[in-house]
Amino acid sequence: MKVILLGPPGAGKGTIAKALMQIDGSVQISTGDILRHAIADKTDLGIQIEAAMAAGNLVTDDLIMSIMEQRLLADDCKHGYLLDGFPRTIPQAEALKNLLTKLGEKLDCVLELDVPRDVIFDRLTTRRTCTNCGEIYNVKSKPPTVDGICDVCGHEIVQRDDETEEAIENRLEVYNEQTAPLADFYRKEGLLVSVASSDLDPVLAAIREHMDR
Ligand code: AP5
Repeated sequence: MKVILLGPPGAGKGTIAKALMQIDGSVQISTGDILRHAIADKTDLGIQIEAAMAAGNLVTDDLIMSIMEQRLLADDCKHGYLLDGFPRTIPQAEALKNLLTKLGEKLDCVLELDVPRDVIFDRLTTRRTCTNCGEIYNVKSKPPTVDGICDVCGHEIVQRDDETEEAIENRLEVYNEQTAPLADFYRKEGLLVSVASSDLDPVLAAIREHMDR
């Protein structure tokens, strides 16, 4: 599958991407994870973007496109990819469209996860993430077996820097202003599949229905 996962912070994009990966071997590409690794490794890129990310603001389109132009050429993308958190602005969507035309590739669909704001707030304040492998937990709906330790790799799981109430508010505002218009962009392209859930079964049913059409 070649799928874009669209949805506000906390909608479940990362969780669904990890579940879909198990089904057909598509690779999850999360721009958020790539940027967080750069910050953890203290690379020049990481130092440049750290403050913007902690506040919940977007990184510039140029930086994101230079990362993604390289990433989509990697060998593991040949079996399909799940774009988690990219594109996030109309200029990124247009640049991706040009890039895919150049590569001779087509998206299967754009999956929009439509989750209410109160659910999002609750999920983001209770989410925990592995510092090593990025596995996603939730203290209410998916706690690790041992408190604070990742079931998958045994490293520490923590709350992200952009999970303060102020940063969450800002991320939702940024999403509504800059990312939500992508739904219309992809609706016009005939690619939008909207699901009012982030549970695997309804998501899979909606993707299959779209691909059968
Ligand atoms: P990013 O890492 O992409 O964060 P986000 O879009 O804000 O999304 P989240 O990771 O917070 O949520 P999610 O939808 O993946 O939900 P999850 O599956 O974890 O981006 C972070 C920052 O990087 C941005 O703010 C920006 O600064 C920068 N950035 C990244 N990409 C960029 C780009 N393209 N351009 C510019 N800047 C960029 O689920 C949330 C919780 O809910 C979890 O605890 C999970 O266990 C739980 N949960 C999920 N589904 C369910 C369910 N069905 N039932 C119960 N609980 C559930």
